[in-house]
Amino acid sequence: MGTLREDMYAALGGADAVASMSHEARADAIEDFAIAKLDAAAEKARKTKTFPTVAELDARIDQRGYRRGAGSLFRHSNYSETIKPGVPEGKVKRLSKMPAAPTLIDFFKQRFAPAAHLLQSAALAKRKGESEEVILGCLLHDMGGYLLKSDHGYWGAQLIEPYVSERVAFGVRYHQALRFFADPQSGYEYPVRYYEAFGFDYVPPPYIQAAYQHALKHEWYMVARHITTNDLYTFNPNLTIEVEEFTDIIGRHFKQPREGLGYDNSPVAHMWRTMINPDAPL
Ligand SMILES: [Fe+2]
Ligand SMILES: [Fe+2]
Repeated sequence: MGTLREDMYAALGGADAVASMSHEARADAIEDFAIAKLDAAAEKARKTKTFPTVAELDARIDQRGYRRGAGSLFRHSNYSETIKPGVPEGKVKRLSKMPAAPTLIDFFKQRFAPAAHLLQSAALAKRKGESEEVILGCLLHDMGGYLLKSDHGYWGAQLIEPYVSERVAFGVRYHQALRFFADPQSGYEYPVRYYEAFGFDYVPPPYIQAAYQHALKHEWYMVARHITTNDLYTFNPNLTIEVEEFTDIIGRHFKQPREGLGYDNSPVAHMWRTMINPDAPL
């Protein structure tokens, strides 16, 4: 086995082949290599690692200063899912003031950043030539998790419902259930990360199983399924994607309210306002 650089050059067809690639092709090839490497590491972890059980995860609940379902805007970002005795909890960071009429891109920059998971999932979907609606679905699929992690697909779909097509909202809502069910024909396997997060012996509750069955028979099943196949947990820590890469797709498929998200009197405006000011005492 060579160095990482030698391995990468070998996988890409040698140094000459790498040198002859366009800048963009080389960036894509390096990203593919990094993803494959991370996937292989995850597979190895699955085979060799002892994952927690549901009961062990349950025992940690009252050992934390926050609930696991709290949205990521409401807890410090340097938390660890693994309880480490004696390690103090972190602090939340101060949030910047948002414009008077905030846009979706403002939320990405000022509330969701770095949003690597969303941006890299959407970039992967774009590179694979998915439809613009699927790319937007990937970009927004876990947005609900900033507000509440528990049932994040449902919160996320509700947040965007007034502004996107029914297909995009469907995809975001049902990706949550579909994540628990493999679809090898679509290239989707049960995520290794879920063994760690939910417990090795976890069985999804009846409402998730029912949502899966409903989605499976639905004409938009593949919209939700494609969101799961681009849902990257083994993302590349060295790859930075800017939300501007999706400005055109957002412009075509997200109806930005003139008054700004949070101020358009829509049924979900208060949910956006809560993300504008998660520090409000009431
Ligand atoms: Fe998700
Ligand atoms: Fe995700």
